[in-house]
Amino acid sequence: MRTQVAIIGAGPAGLLLAHLLHLRGIESVVLESQSRKHVEERIRAGVLEQGTVDLLVESGVGERLRREGLTHHGLELRFGRRAHRIDLSGLTGGRALTVYAQQEVVKDLIQARLAAGGTILFEISDVEVRGVGTNAPRVVFRKDGAADAIACDFIAGCDGFHGVSRASVPRGALTAHEQDYPFAWLGILADAPPVSPELIYCQHELGFALFTMRTTRLSRLYLQCAPDEDIANWPDDRIWEKLRARLGGGAPLPEGPVLQKGITGMRSFVVEPMQHGRLFLAGDAAHIVPPTGAKGLNLAVADVRVLAQAFAAHYESGSSAALDRYSETCLRRVWRVQRFSWWMTALLHRFPGGDAMRQRLQHAELDYLVGSRAAMTAFAENYVGLPFED
Ligand code: FAD
Ligand code: DHB
Repeated sequence: MRTQVAIIGAGPAGLLLAHLLHLRGIESVVLESQSRKHVEERIRAGVLEQGTVDLLVESGVGERLRREGLTHHGLELRFGRRAHRIDLSGLTGGRALTVYAQQEVVKDLIQARLAAGGTILFEISDVEVRGVGTNAPRVVFRKDGAADAIACDFIAGCDGFHGVSRASVPRGALTAHEQDYPFAWLGILADAPPVSPELIYCQHELGFALFTMRTTRLSRLYLQCAPDEDIANWPDDRIWEKLRARLGGGAPLPEGPVLQKGITGMRSFVVEPMQHGRLFLAGDAAHIVPPTGAKGLNLAVADVRVLAQAFAAHYESGSSAALDRYSETCLRRVWRVQRFSWWMTALLHRFPGGDAMRQRLQHAELDYLVGSRAAMTAFAENYVGLPFED
């Protein structure tokens, strides 16, 4: 088999890249280790920045997103038993966030790709990246037990944090920057209406909590927990009790059957550069943000937007200048988003040890934030998404 761009991973990064390349007349094949059902049902992020929504709509995969996505013009911060609304749209000239589950974005992209005659190979194994330092890279793999290979011009490593792409780069060629956090998030999806029409981020002495949603009838709720927490120690009643305590006053928290629960670790990670020879890393394969700013999915989208434009410039004009600048262009945004996610994480979580000095400083910063139009504008600008740069 031969294609122009071999894409490893059918997450949001790989699938959107394949779609954007198709719009520019560039062929690709997507290789995915999981089944279609698995990737379409995997519950992860749910908040889309304005730029992500605009890109999906403009590229023709936003029809259901426009119909079913929930547009939010503000969010609430709770701390010290007080609630403060941040008018995201008012502070950013009308920009907004949209609640639409990641797996719905994935379903829409798979459908568009297959409808256009594109190739996505699911349930492949033993993927290996070969020859990225030559003009003839290849991806070798097994499908239904049989060995196979794809020859290509370029490889896009969109296979997430645990994928093979980054790991296949020779030791010493990339530099990794990493920070782990001393807490994790326990997330549930509940068959209950959201407690509020807008997201609520709670800083609380018992630990952070986040009240979000997937639809007007489905809540998505997160609680700060220990990084080594065993989900078996969290029966539903205990989760609801902690959520109620951290939400504090206001409207009572609607409860309902818990449809799914899991624990997500928190880390900041960036690899530099995001390219090695003809291998280009995008999304979680190149960087991880702690989830507090809802940025992981949006950053993956921003990367592949740059990468698709760079491939288009290469095939249309023969110039590799944009591909050569890919890593530098992406990393500017990656570091700004890392900073925001790290800042929000440090602002809202309780650090083990219960350091009173840190808690007072967090309160002072939150107090300043909600009392200063300048500080709220900086927050809003980052939360709805920094503008794309070329
Ligand atoms: P992924 O979505 O990870 O896609 C990578 C794909 O590559 C996967 O389909 C994987 O199966 C495939 N793959 C891996 N290895 C191979 C291989 N060897 N060969 C072939 N295919 C391979 N972000 C938020 O903003 N808010 C959240 O609440 C949030 N929750 C999260 C919860 C969890 C459990 C996780 C893991 C992430 C969460 N994120 C969240 C982050 C967000 O979901 C990611 O940033 C986003 O999925 C990145 O997209 P991606 O396409 O780069 O990677
Ligand atoms: C959601 C996840 C986040 O990490 C976040 O900061 C806001 C919302 C969500 O799953 O809806």
